[in-house]
Amino acid sequence: MTPPELFSARLRSAAPVLTLAPMQDVTTLEFMRVIARYGGPDVYWTEYFRVHGDSRPEKWILDSITKNPTGRPVVAQLIGNDIPALVRTAKLLQKYPVAAIDLNLGCPAPIVYRKCAGGGLLREPLKIDAILGALRDAVTVPFTVKTRIGFESAAEFDMLLPLFAKHPIDLLTIHARTVVQMYRPGVRYDLIARAARELRCPVLANGNVYGAAQAVTLFAETGVRGLMIGRGAIRNPWLFDQIRAELRGEKIRLPAGRELLAYIHELWDNEITPGVRESAQVQRMKKFMNFIGEGIGGQFLFEIRRVTTTADFWRVCEIYLNHDHLMALEPPETF
Ligand SMILES: Cc1cc2nc3c(=O)[nH]c(=O)nc-3n(C[C@H](O)[C@H](O)[C@H](O)COP(=O)(O)O)c2cc1C
Repeated sequence: MTPPELFSARLRSAAPVLTLAPMQDVTTLEFMRVIARYGGPDVYWTEYFRVHGDSRPEKWILDSITKNPTGRPVVAQLIGNDIPALVRTAKLLQKYPVAAIDLNLGCPAPIVYRKCAGGGLLREPLKIDAILGALRDAVTVPFTVKTRIGFESAAEFDMLLPLFAKHPIDLLTIHARTVVQMYRPGVRYDLIARAARELRCPVLANGNVYGAAQAVTLFAETGVRGLMIGRGAIRNPWLFDQIRAELRGEKIRLPAGRELLAYIHELWDNEITPGVRESAQVQRMKKFMNFIGEGIGGQFLFEIRRVTTTADFWRVCEIYLNHDHLMALEPPETF
């Protein structure tokens, strides 16, 4: 089967679809390779390709499509607001083994939304309408959208839903926060449930999925087709398999400290480029440790954020993780 056929078949199958959220600078080819060894998601997303008048698809993001080592489909995400450029890029990317083309309507970074791309587009429904129409015409593989619930207020969702209903998109992922809310508490799963009821296309729920039992409850309560998981999967790469076990009614297996330590070693081996300055390597690992540390507790995060050398990095990891106690790897409090 081709990647689009695999993706469509997965969306039609009975089991809930578990996907890895696109994360800039994180969901690279190297991270995909690591997380696949832990069971991994059913579908991967690339971080966004930045699209504008004279953009070309970024080589390192293309690598995660052309060298995809996981055997599972990968969806290519675009961010931008220039319609001819989006159409040109979507057509170009369809020459690669992409499972689908996805439009980003959620990025909350001011540098992006001030240019009215990503989450900024949620302030311009007419523009969204035009982009969805043009991309739907240009995309012959599945066409999907990832959105937040509004720019300023969740009330904007009333105006967004009809737009997603109007264009025959193949999947809608909803990160149920507004753009101005960034990552603050108050994920509106009720609005995801509403979209799942009202839209014809399948819906994925996204936002703070952190544990197997919580994921299965969320899945049942929202009536979605599946879940998209970002930070929770960096923190706990076993999460996808734990959710699968929970869905089968089996007892979930928690990893021991030493297994988490082995995961961090694997990340290090995959993420570190030989010849790169030591402090830059440690800095690169902190991108992951910021999320992993939330599941470790104690003073771990405080200490790991302050290390600058390889020796100190592993010294702190050993202190906290060289043990056989089982770890839930959940954040300190629910958000
Ligand atoms: C480091 C980082 C980078 C992200 N980059 C992207 C991106 O490129 N495209 C996108 O649609 N969302 C991006 N997001 C948002 C995530 O895909 C997801 O919607 C968000 O983290 C909420 O899900 P979670 O609580 O499971 O992490 C990013 C999030 C993080 C933490």
